[in-house]
Amino acid sequence: MKIIGSYPKTRLRRLRKAQWIRNLVSENNISHNDLVLPIFVREGKNKIESIKSMPGVKRYSIDKLPIILKQVKKFNIPMVAIFPYVANGKKDNLGTEALNPNNLICKSIRLIKKKFPQIGIMCDVALDPYTSHGHDGIIVNNKIDNDQTVKILVKQALLQAKMGCDMIAPSDMMDGRIGKIRKALEKANYKDVSLLSYAVKYASNYYGPFRDAVGSKSKLKQDKKTYQMDFRNSSEAFREVALDIKEGADMVMVKPGMIYLDIIKQIKNKFKVPVLAYQVSGEYFLIKNAIQKKILNDDSIIESLIAFKRAGASAILTYFAIDIAKKLKNI
Ligand code: PBG
Repeated sequence: MKIIGSYPKTRLRRLRKAQWIRNLVSENNISHNDLVLPIFVREGKNKIESIKSMPGVKRYSIDKLPIILKQVKKFNIPMVAIFPYVANGKKDNLGTEALNPNNLICKSIRLIKKKFPQIGIMCDVALDPYTSHGHDGIIVNNKIDNDQTVKILVKQALLQAKMGCDMIAPSDMMDGRIGKIRKALEKANYKDVSLLSYAVKYASNYYGPFRDAVGSKSKLKQDKKTYQMDFRNSSEAFREVALDIKEGADMVMVKPGMIYLDIIKQIKNKFKVPVLAYQVSGEYFLIKNAIQKKILNDDSIIESLIAFKRAGASAILTYFAIDIAKKLKNI
């Protein structure tokens, strides 16, 4: 790019001299429409429980879900992502509870569809909240078995669609699952159900607090490196995205977010599909902790979210969604 102009004819500070002109020329902005709120649900009644590793984030029993959903509605957040904290007694080797039509996810979908029909619902397809070993797939001969897992994931996705889930989000990183799920959805006539593939999901160290929140952390004995991506790679991300689009994904996710902005930008430029970014639990913790200790100020949150927009993300999954939507409304 050729740089046009020179000092003193050109003084770039003229465009920064007051808030109004900065607003006028701003290249990227964020609104409530760009936010997705992850919500954790648990068994029981009348329970709103703090999560030690995620200050400010709670687990809700289903009867208490409306408390948070009212906020989502009030601040016009378009979609929520529901994650279950499954009781130990319900976990097994095969993640059987994932296919129970009365599990926490199914109950949550039914409640949201009935009481908050204007809110979009996104659900993870993966077995980790349900398995006794904390892995996203099932273990056969000491390995996470791709094809056996995909068979279960297809059933999990169909069940979510049947309950009314709007956006099915496979986060398991098995090969070929998008194609199989899309085919099954078509066959069962769920033509309007979107598939958001966690296409680029790295084997990240930043998922720790989330694993604590869904209760899989203490279960997990090894890492997830045989199925999630190696964080040294970027061209591999293109192969993942290309395959998933071909197999029928409507949108793709990059995860984690803040430390993978380079990947978001390249994928957006190359594929022109909606790219969502996940500001994951470890990234949330770093910012939240620094704000609570008064080392960073509140505006560091907006700055972190605008970075996703600048990189080309269409929307951001963030545990800050309500705080930020609230703040944006006051501006
Ligand atoms: C499960 C899943 C994970 C996250 C979302 N879905 C964790 C993992 O893969 O171990 C992480 C989200 C976060 O850290 O906020 N498949």
